[in-house]
Amino acid sequence: MSRFDGRVAIITGGGSGLGREFSCELAKDGARVVVADIFLEGAEETVALVEAQGGTSVAVQADVSQSGSVQAMVHSALDAYGAIDILINNAGLVGETLPAAEVSEESWDRVMSVDMKGVFLGSKAVIPIMLEKGSGVIINIASVSGFLASATGIEYTAAKHGVVGLTKQLAYDYGHQGIRAVGVAPGVIETPLTADWTKEGGPFHELTIDAPAARYGRPIDIARFISFLASDEASFMHGHTFPVDGGSIIR
Ligand SMILES: NC(=O)c1ccc[n+]([C@@H]2O[C@H](COP(=O)([O-])OP(=O)(O)OC[C@H]3O[C@@H](n4cnc5c(N)ncnc54)[C@H](O)[C@@H]3O)[C@@H](O)[C@H]2O)c1
Repeated sequence: MSRFDGRVAIITGGGSGLGREFSCELAKDGARVVVADIFLEGAEETVALVEAQGGTSVAVQADVSQSGSVQAMVHSALDAYGAIDILINNAGLVGETLPAAEVSEESWDRVMSVDMKGVFLGSKAVIPIMLEKGSGVIINIASVSGFLASATGIEYTAAKHGVVGLTKQLAYDYGHQGIRAVGVAPGVIETPLTADWTKEGGPFHELTIDAPAARYGRPIDIARFISFLASDEASFMHGHTFPVDGGSIIR
């Protein structure tokens, strides 16, 4: 019997990088996976990868910053598999990565609406379904930028700090009713998002290379932890956001 036999997971931003790896990993561990992304082609590529490894998966186009689109994503998941046991609020983007006074209001609004409001909308949409079942796990992908300031810029830092707070509040509001909310704060992981950052001399080189692990992370470094966090083995973990960062923020 696999870890997630019979369970259904939605992964937002599943069409690339971390979300793609999470989709493959949860499917490997037996979950049926709904790969949601604003970019349908990316989601479909992930589904092809999941199916190639023998997993069960469906692609859904969804914009996490729009409540109607998020509701439609939830309906598609229910239509496909009849349940939602796990939601991974992973979709995210970075802003202009400029000093605060140079950041445009548009970039602020865009990053807030995807990285923070998207977590709220996704959680809000699945909670009634999880409450009805009396169980569910919500995993929010924050960042080490949820704990410190860095070159990622004010809108990203503020949004990810917000995700850390949202995760606590979700746990506070629904833990007693069987819904477990937890967060993960990755360090710098090699994905399309960070392609420019992980080059020699990139803005996080020192933070990463001087850290105990002395390397950039790989999506699988996060995905194995996500699978554990989503499982019943992590049933005593509520409300916290756990850094998985090679030790980059210990000092
Ligand atoms: N890669 C890192 O180093 C790192 C570190 C810390 C946190 N994170 C976080 O991890 C998450 C995934 O990042 P990644 O590195 O895999 O990035 P990525 O760019 O490879 O993937 C992000 C995915 O989200 C999708 N997306 C963007 N806006 C969306 C929207 N409105 N609705 C639905 N989908 C949308 C994109 O199409 C893309 O497929 C993000 O929340 C990011 O902030 C990444």
